[in-house]
Amino acid sequence: MTIPDIIIAIDGYSSTGKSSFAKLIAHEFSFMYLDSGALYRAITYLTVNEGLIDKDGQIDSVNLKKRLEVSDIHFSYSPLGSKTFIGETCIEDKIRTLSVSDYVSPVAALPFVRDYVDGRLKEFGKKRRIVMDGRDIGTTVFPDAEIKIFMTADPEIRAQRRFDELVSKGSNPIFDDVMNNLRERDYIDSHRETSPLVKADDAFILDNSDMSVREELFWLKGLIQGKLDILQ
Ligand code: CDP
Repeated sequence: MTIPDIIIAIDGYSSTGKSSFAKLIAHEFSFMYLDSGALYRAITYLTVNEGLIDKDGQIDSVNLKKRLEVSDIHFSYSPLGSKTFIGETCIEDKIRTLSVSDYVSPVAALPFVRDYVDGRLKEFGKKRRIVMDGRDIGTTVFPDAEIKIFMTADPEIRAQRRFDELVSKGSNPIFDDVMNNLRERDYIDSHRETSPLVKADDAFILDNSDMSVREELFWLKGLIQGKLDILQ
């Protein structure tokens, strides 16, 4: 199936498999994939690593803002996918740990952090032909995206997926910690003042509790077909 240069925006709750789906879409249609969460995770890694957050979760916003202005957070692309860097250092594995997940939602709720990431993401959108996943892509970053998907799944299934992912990367997580992190992030992401996680009015809901990623692709192809028939 060939499709024109459009933007596909995928939003939804934590661990709904947005990135796996987005990567498959990118591969299938030769789109560029952008993981907006990686930018929030990289900023959170910076915050934790440079001691800009205390044990109670209080963020030193003044210094984080200054640090962000001079930081060189970027993606490096290869046929195997993209990796997140700060300067010369690859931080791809470090940003996926539970210790970063624990703080990412409070950091991502800061308006100056959202402004920074928003600006970076919109730059990518100038090229079109991209698929981007996150929490506010269809509502704030690309409200004009041609295809918008809102992903959800049963919380127990989502926690199990994230648990399995962490185990496969060599971690030894506790299931309840994973579950609590997921619930807490869902709550903060959905209730923050700036760009909360909400379904865009024109987004299609995809509940993949009992679906494989291949079935998701099949579902999407039907959706795109219908949408393009309307657009043409
Ligand atoms: O992989 P998972 O869905 O668990 O999370 P992620 O996409 O890596 O995003 C990590 C966190 O970044 C989320 O829980 C949000 O707090 C924040 N985020 C956001 O606020 N807006 C986005 N567009 C993407 C991520």
